[in-house]
Amino acid sequence: MRKVQFTETVLRDANQSLMATRLPYSDYGDILPVMDQAGYYSVECWGGATFDSCLRYLNEDPWERLRNIRKNMPNTRLQMLLRGQNLLGYKHYHDDVVEKFVELSIRNGIDIIRIFDALNDFRNLGTALDATKKYGTERTIASGCISYTQSPVHTVDKYVEMCKELVRMGFDTLCLKDMAGTMSPFEAEHLIKGIKDAVGDVPVILHTHCTTGMAYMTLTKAIESGVDVIDTATSCFSNGTSQAATETMFYACQQYGIETGLNEKIINQVNDFFKPVKQKYIDTGLINPKSMATDSQALVYKVPGGMLSNMIANLKDMNAMDRFDEALVEIPAVRKDLGYPPLVTPLSQMVGNQAVTNVLVGERYKNISNEVKNYFRGEYGIAPAPVDRALEEKILGAGGKPVDCRIEDSRRTGEDFIKAREALGELAESEEDVMSYICFPAQAEKFLQNRKAEREKKAAYTIVEM
Ligand code: CO
Repeated sequence: MRKVQFTETVLRDANQSLMATRLPYSDYGDILPVMDQAGYYSVECWGGATFDSCLRYLNEDPWERLRNIRKNMPNTRLQMLLRGQNLLGYKHYHDDVVEKFVELSIRNGIDIIRIFDALNDFRNLGTALDATKKYGTERTIASGCISYTQSPVHTVDKYVEMCKELVRMGFDTLCLKDMAGTMSPFEAEHLIKGIKDAVGDVPVILHTHCTTGMAYMTLTKAIESGVDVIDTATSCFSNGTSQAATETMFYACQQYGIETGLNEKIINQVNDFFKPVKQKYIDTGLINPKSMATDSQALVYKVPGGMLSNMIANLKDMNAMDRFDEALVEIPAVRKDLGYPPLVTPLSQMVGNQAVTNVLVGERYKNISNEVKNYFRGEYGIAPAPVDRALEEKILGAGGKPVDCRIEDSRRTGEDFIKAREALGELAESEEDVMSYICFPAQAEKFLQNRKAEREKKAAYTIVEM
């Protein structure tokens, strides 16, 4: 019997896509023991923006959140999203920091680490992969993830080659991550067939978003074409910029006699639990109705929806909305000059801002942003295709070569840890505290100070009561 399994994303990606990752643990802790019985392939619950959001907005310790989820879902694989050498942000961390982060993630309860790089520069995945293998147990899975994008150089053959490379590197599973939701059913069919033919038994996972309205068709074609796992969200947290609905895809699979391993009663119970949670955040305005709608503009303009709204806001700020059409044409041109990077953060902003600048200044690349300069210097990794030669020479000087961002990483002095410990002093009580500080210094320090103050207050009360 054909089998397709489900990764439930309500705790991470759906939460991130629909409500800016502001879902506190206290809103869902009670349903975790039920979710544990659902039969998901995995529950994506950590990484991405959850870590930053815990510290910055929710006054939660992200590590404690993970331990609580682990405790309440002992039978389910817990999954996180990791941006390779950038961990959870956009900065390039040293190898020893990446290794420690992975070690602590596994120690605190993570089973599956989905590792990606915005540019698909796989050198940025190696350290995290090796650490996953080093500190993992028999239930740990290292998932190699490709940032999906469309361009003249991103052909089926190119994606198949990338998948083969990830398998060669030692990843246990492969994931295609379509963050903009622009993968069509046609593309899914050819990609999944091509990849499955090339990698044999290695499980292939499809992650897409409903943003443009294509996700259900795309997932259906992917299932027909042999995909092993799909990412979905419990239905009240599905659609719009989030994933397709778990129960809906389950129902469709069932009619085709596809085994999913899901318990229908439980997945409905999970949805019933989250309905009032969602309503609460619609009422507070945290869930914007816009994020729940279908927006097909990305298909028309070939730029992700978020990037487009960003550009419109920029142009409005500068009273230059009359240049919108020109800027729209300039985006693909800049992207080509940069060697067709996937349009994800921070590259989408980089390309969008440079396109607007080129149009408003009236001369292409008369002003070049520091981010674009750093990109050409190689600080983000290798571009998917050759960059524009003339522009490269303008930025790097004649004969200039981009740096190899991997060179500095050979050092293993633990310097970042020493500095972080010194900065935190007695605020740091664990390696996890130190890691939070390395990742998000200002937010972590504020959180740890709060924690200390709260404890002192509690201690004072206890004395009075005695
Ligand atoms: Co996503």
